[in-house]
Amino acid sequence: MCLHAIISAQILVLHRTAIGGFTTPELQPHSIPLDQIAAAVSGGQLAVLSALRQLASEEEVPVYLVGGAVRDYVLGIPTRDLDFVVVGNATIVATELANNLSGTVTVHQRFGTATVEIDGDRVDIVTARKEAYASPGSLPKVSFSDLNDDLARRDFSINAMALPLSGESPNVIDPHGGLHDLANGSIAILHSDSFTDDPTRMLRAVRYEQRLGFQIFETTMAELKKSINEGRVPAVSGDRWRQEFQKIFDEDRGSEMFSRAIEIGTLPAIHPALSNDAGLAPLIGETGLSPCDYLAALVRDLSPDDGDAVSQRLNLPIDWARMVRDTIALKEITPTIFETASKISAICRLLDGLDPESIAASARFSQDAQLATKLRRYLDEWRLVRTALTGDDLMGMGLTPGVKIGEVLQELHSAKLDGLISSETEERAMVNQIISRGS
Ligand code: CTP
Repeated sequence: MCLHAIISAQILVLHRTAIGGFTTPELQPHSIPLDQIAAAVSGGQLAVLSALRQLASEEEVPVYLVGGAVRDYVLGIPTRDLDFVVVGNATIVATELANNLSGTVTVHQRFGTATVEIDGDRVDIVTARKEAYASPGSLPKVSFSDLNDDLARRDFSINAMALPLSGESPNVIDPHGGLHDLANGSIAILHSDSFTDDPTRMLRAVRYEQRLGFQIFETTMAELKKSINEGRVPAVSGDRWRQEFQKIFDEDRGSEMFSRAIEIGTLPAIHPALSNDAGLAPLIGETGLSPCDYLAALVRDLSPDDGDAVSQRLNLPIDWARMVRDTIALKEITPTIFETASKISAICRLLDGLDPESIAASARFSQDAQLATKLRRYLDEWRLVRTALTGDDLMGMGLTPGVKIGEVLQELHSAKLDGLISSETEERAMVNQIISRGS
């Protein structure tokens, strides 16, 4: 029987209370063979896991695998990261481990966290901690604590499970009903202040929901919407929201995630201009999309001012802000592109200077096949067209240096784009004509 089925059978007796809690944790302990976790990872991750297992078994250091890796193992899907919690001092453990395994370690002493890097693989090791939010949406105050507090500070029950690294087949520690929610396909917060404390969890909720094919649990959804209505979203900085956007950019179902976040009201609360998901529709089902694809889809129908306001709200880096601007500019010049349908040179002049990535994104997902073809031809052929003659050649033909040279080159270039000339001989003939007409 697969793990999922075993868990489903085990959790039938559980009943959820109003918000994320469970009446009777009658679930039988669910054990996971550590060798199976080890078999699913390799390289630096395996080296760290093996060393930590040894530390936990031989020196009885309380070390746990936590979060996504436990969740994904139970679901039978590959995991991305390994996160470990140490009840004690994670930075000492991580530093020793990096030394022993010839890796490197980055330590954040204040937070008691460390990242170990071995053979290009990164693993996070953190000290078990408690978090307290001084004000809604602010970063939490951290104090070192035990495993229970560490699990209780987390976002969703499915991410709040731990697996001790001692013994062969330890039981999953699951104080918040994560196994039950995995079996039920539910995304559930651990307490009613969760979204108020950390509104970025609103985007995390849709990310897990769409990634795993789950549903945000009813009372969790009610709390999410309540936090939006209470105005919790604007308190969070653009940088923190942008980081959540970036995590969605890395997902396969990013378009579904953004659409859902618009439907629920999170994106419109981040900025009111982000309230229309029409631009995302053509991306649904597509994988391997770039940040530019997503940005273009989100801002495509905005006015230039709204586009700038969104870029500012998310504190976008310069190149992304440019993609936003150019996507909107491209949308605005689309009617002109059609008016100048027969003149390739005129189309090129409209598109020259716009970010090619933005043009490519618009070409890929434009609903208008004719426009998409023109944009693609611009990218693949037209923008690569060069005249055979150079400025030096023109001077050799009798033109005096100055603005005129540039104008003639431009005229040649346009004529070549529009198919009026093609060979160098024809270019020379055209230059001679221009010289003799004297203008
Ligand atoms: N976490 C949280 N609240 C946040 C961010 C993270 O509670 N705003 C907790 C979650 O328990 C999460 C863990 O920190 O499992 C690690 O966060 P992250 O690396 O973002 O998630 P992973 O589970 O490692 O990765 P993913 O779920 O995307 O596979």
